[in-house]
Amino acid sequence: MKKVAVIAAGQTPFGTHNGKGMKGLFQEAVEDALASVDYQIPLNKTNEVYIGNLGAGGSQLGNPAALIVEHLGLVGVSARRVENACASSGFAFRDAIHAIRNGADMAIAGGIEIMNDLNSGHQRYWLGVSGDTEWERTAGATFSGIYALMARRHMYEYGTPREALAQCAVKNHENALNNPMAQFRKAISMDRVLSAPMVANPLGLFDCCPTSDGASVAILVSEDLVKEITDDPVWVLGSGAATDHLAIHDRQKITELLATRKAADQAFKQAKVNISQIDFAEVHDCFTIAEILAIEDLGFFEKGKAASEVLNGETSKRGKIPVNTSGGLKAKGHPLGATGTGQIVELFKQLTNKADKRQIANASIGLAHNVGGSGATCTVHIMGKGV
Ligand SMILES: CC(C)(COP(=O)(O)OP(=O)(O)OC[C@H]1O[C@@H](n2cnc3c(N)ncnc32)[C@H](O)[C@@H]1OP(=O)(O)O)[C@@H](O)C(=O)NCCC(=O)NCCS
Repeated sequence: MKKVAVIAAGQTPFGTHNGKGMKGLFQEAVEDALASVDYQIPLNKTNEVYIGNLGAGGSQLGNPAALIVEHLGLVGVSARRVENACASSGFAFRDAIHAIRNGADMAIAGGIEIMNDLNSGHQRYWLGVSGDTEWERTAGATFSGIYALMARRHMYEYGTPREALAQCAVKNHENALNNPMAQFRKAISMDRVLSAPMVANPLGLFDCCPTSDGASVAILVSEDLVKEITDDPVWVLGSGAATDHLAIHDRQKITELLATRKAADQAFKQAKVNISQIDFAEVHDCFTIAEILAIEDLGFFEKGKAASEVLNGETSKRGKIPVNTSGGLKAKGHPLGATGTGQIVELFKQLTNKADKRQIANASIGLAHNVGGSGATCTVHIMGKGV
């Protein structure tokens, strides 16, 4: 199996990009990626392009990949949209890895979403389309409502305190202070999280990710081509992906994300590393309970034991496993289709020692965990430098 290198990664700021269309926004992410390194990247060697996107507000549902590729000056290159809800670009990244393992020289994986050009009614519609339509969406369930059920059950089964959820938000807002690409660059206190307006009990405003516009991209090459570009790339060590029942009532348990466990198992086996070798992780914290579930199901902490570790600061930048140094979905923002490769951007920055004030000393192996909907689709990627 050919080795796969990531030679550049970049993104737009996440937040509101009034009036910018898909083409311009994606181009901005590509320009940021090209500027992220001090070597030239021969984009004309691209064989395959994968664009993660849920719906771009419904404005360009059909054929966005062709439009984007045309704007990048790559007309003629094979391109397609990849849709797996909020995990769309995690899967786009995985598809790009497979393309290179199967003989491509260069592949582009990216994601884009424009959510803020819609009124709140349409926004709710687009957010809801990734749950089970028959049993969840048309019955009135929202993602905040579904994750609130998971939170309540986790609190009941494991005695998880409400404060542990809140601490994930406090920590991620603190991390985002040092990320110029983050949507929210303001610290919040535990009291503020606990007294915020309720969205779906027990989840308040600050337990939820926001709605965001943004684009992100990673450029991948084969071990043969990388030699012509750089002698110090970031390597993809392992890729895993899995699915689970879409509606949560069909799952055996709602306090664990089975797709996360399966995807992590595959990624760790392929990477031939164990959990204690991971220096930092970007995990899918669309709601604060999702971060608790992720760090347990990925294996950083035993089931039911993450809350006390979070409260002790073990997932902060100074803790034993820094989680979401970028600010995570909570504070960096969550433009659905752009989130997966957005996490890869943070891995690339940390592993190339370019994360500025949020840099983790001696980071050599990172993990990215991207989830679609309430856990039905998941990718886990492990990347390393000098390994
Ligand atoms: C949490 C949520 C309901 C808030 O929406 P809203 O009530 O319409 O909020 P508004 O957009 O009117 O913003 C009100 C204020 O709160 C802030 N805000 C909005 N969402 C926020 C969030 N998630 N965290 C922190 N602040 C937030 C806004 O910046 C704004 O502040 P301002 O008044 O200082 O400008 C909405 O962001 C949401 O649905 N999030 C979840 C998205 C989702 O489900 N994604 C898929 C996950 S699987």
